[in-house]
Amino acid sequence: MSTGFSRRRQDVIFTLPAQETAAAVTATAATPAAAPAPAAAATAAARPAEPEDLPGIAAQVASCTACGLCSGRKTTVPGEGSLRPPVFFVGEGPGEEEDRTGRPFVGAAGKYLDKWIPAIGLQRHQCFIANVVKCRPPRNREPRPEEIAACLPFLKRQIKLIQPKTICCLGRIAAQTLLETTSSLGSLRGRVHAWQGIPLIVTYHPSAVLREPSLRKPVWDDLRLLKTLLSDDPDAASEQAGK
Ligand code: URA
Repeated sequence: MSTGFSRRRQDVIFTLPAQETAAAVTATAATPAAAPAPAAAATAAARPAEPEDLPGIAAQVASCTACGLCSGRKTTVPGEGSLRPPVFFVGEGPGEEEDRTGRPFVGAAGKYLDKWIPAIGLQRHQCFIANVVKCRPPRNREPRPEEIAACLPFLKRQIKLIQPKTICCLGRIAAQTLLETTSSLGSLRGRVHAWQGIPLIVTYHPSAVLREPSLRKPVWDDLRLLKTLLSDDPDAASEQAGK
C-alpha cells in the first residue's frame, strides 16, 4: 500500500512552556485529580477542546473521572514523546511503575520496548508512546470495554493532533481497539492496516514476549515490516507483509 507521506518531519519533543522535558511534562500533567466527582464524569474525554494541544489533552486526562479507573490511580499517564514521530506506539494501560511516575512504558515492559526501538533505526525520544487507557487498571488487569470507551477519545485526539508517520499497536487490546475488530492478534499482525489514513501495524506486547520468548521472532518480523514502512518504500513493505 502507499504510505503517501512526504512531509518534512521534525523531531520535536512534547514540552510545556516551562520547558520541561517530555517525561516531566507527563508527570506534571499527571498530578492526581481531586476526589472524583461522578456528576462530572461523563464527557471529559470527548469534550471538544479549544485549540487542541498535547498539554491541554494531558490536563484533561489528569482531571478525568469518566470511568472507575480514576479512583485507583496515583497519577494519570497521558503519553510522551516527539511531536513529529515516525512511530506512535500504543500500549494497553499503565502498570505500577507508570502509575507511580506518570510516564508510559518505564517498567520492565518499557525497558524491553526500549531495546526494540533501535531495531527500527530510532531512539525512544523520537517516537511517541501512549496507551489506550491513561489510568492503571487494578492489579494490571485488562481494561474493560467501558473503560476503553471512556478513555479512547484522548488517544484518538493525540493521534490526530500528532499525525505520526506510522502507528504500532503493542498487543491485542491496542490493536483491537484502534482497528475496531475482535480478530486475534495473530491474524492482525504481519500486514499493514490503516487508522484514519495512517499506516498501522500490530505486534505482540513486550510483556507477552517477556513471558513467552518464542514470540521474539514474530516481533522481529513485525519490526522489520515497520522499518520498511518508515523507509517510504511501499512496494517493499507490501512485499514484506506478503511473506
Ligand atoms: N504496559 C502498557 O501497555 N503500557 C505501559 O505504559 C506499561 C506497560
